[in-house]
Order: sequence, then structure tokens, then C-alpha cells
Amino acid sequence: MVVRNVPGSSSFGGTVKAVVVYESLWGNTAAIAHAIAEGLGPDTKALSTAEAIGEEIKGVDLFVAGAPLLGFSLPTEGMRKSIDSNPREKKPTLSVPTMRSWLADLPKGTGRGASFETRIWWSPGSAANAIARMLNDAGYSTPPKGEKFLVTGRYGPLKVGEIERAKEWGAMLGRSLG
Ligand SMILES: Cc1cc2nc3c(=O)[nH]c(=O)nc-3n(C[C@H](O)[C@H](O)[C@H](O)COP(=O)(O)O)c2cc1C
Repeated sequence: MVVRNVPGSSSFGGTVKAVVVYESLWGNTAAIAHAIAEGLGPDTKALSTAEAIGEEIKGVDLFVAGAPLLGFSLPTEGMRKSIDSNPREKKPTLSVPTMRSWLADLPKGTGRGASFETRIWWSPGSAANAIARMLNDAGYSTPPKGEKFLVTGRYGPLKVGEIERAKEWGAMLGRSLG
């Protein structure tokens, strides 16, 4: 969890605690979250919104938070229930809270943030940008536009190369913390 600078690794300098948090209904965002954490360094955890509580999120210097884009936006509880009750949709995993509710409950902090989403392609709205606004509201300084990782169909899979790109993005975030 605590990341120390290791010569030759992509980890950042000093002692910085970074955590990657995700909401994922079919696994795509979870896979990207784990790749980002790997890029950030061996001590960085990727945690679901159910796991990212208590001690796990105490004293965090960098939160990287991600969710899928659903219906052009960050999923709401209502959206998730309607997908779950629609027999034409692939059954989602709804055992963890929405990113929206996790962010609403996040205690105020003073660190940094970064956000991402998984999606098919074009959308007028962005889950990652909504996450960025909420991280900023919680005191975590976050760029207004998040990173987008692409899937090739309604439920995935991830486009070829996106896992590698996520690892590189995580490493870049680590380097930017210096
Ligand atoms: C009901 C539903 C709505 C979706 N809405 C959008 C959308 O508005 N724009 C988009 O680009 N992708 C959309 N997608 C694709 C998801 O964003 C994509 O599958 C995402 O990677 C799912 O992430 P997860 O596996 O972590 O839950 C939608 C998929 C479903 C099933």
C-alpha cells in the first residue's frame, strides 16, 4: 500500500500512498483498475468500492477512481437496478456500491486524484469527468478530464492493447507525483 521509490521502477519518490478504486459490473473496469495499480507500483492496491473503506483509504495521497460509462453517464443505483431486471441484458455484478455513493461518502482529504472510465466509444457525457468533479469536491485535486479505456462490445471485452495502455497510464501517474 505504501509506495517507496525503488531505483529502476516506475514508483514515485518519497513515501506516497496510492489506491485505485473501481466500480465494475462486468469486469472491464476492474481489469483496467488492476493494470493501473500494477503500473503505479507493486505496493499499490486496486480495490472495489466495497473494499475501499476504513484503514484502506486512510492517509491516501493519490486516489485513482474509475467506473463504466452507462447511458452516457456515471452509473446510478436506478440504472443498475433497471439493467439487473432487464432479461435482455447480461447479468451485472451489483454486490458493491456505486462509485457515485462511494465518492459521496469519501471523507474530505487533501491529496491528489485521477479518474478513468471504460466505454465503447463516443458519448456526450463522461463517467470519468463526473468522478473527477466529485474527487475535487472531496478535496482531492483531480484533472477535469479523465482517461478513457475502450471495449469492443456492450459488455466488453476490452480492446486489444488497453491493459498495456492502462499499465503505462498508471506508471505515468506515478512519475507525475515525482
Ligand atoms: C446498459 C448499458 C449501457 C451502456 N452505455 C454506454 C454508453 O452510454 N456509452 C458507451 O460508450 N458505452 C456504454 N456501455 C458499454 C459499457 O460502458 C462497457 O461495457 C463497460 O466497459 C462496462 O464496464 P464494466 O465491465 O466494468 O462494468 C453500456 C453498456 C450497457 C450494458
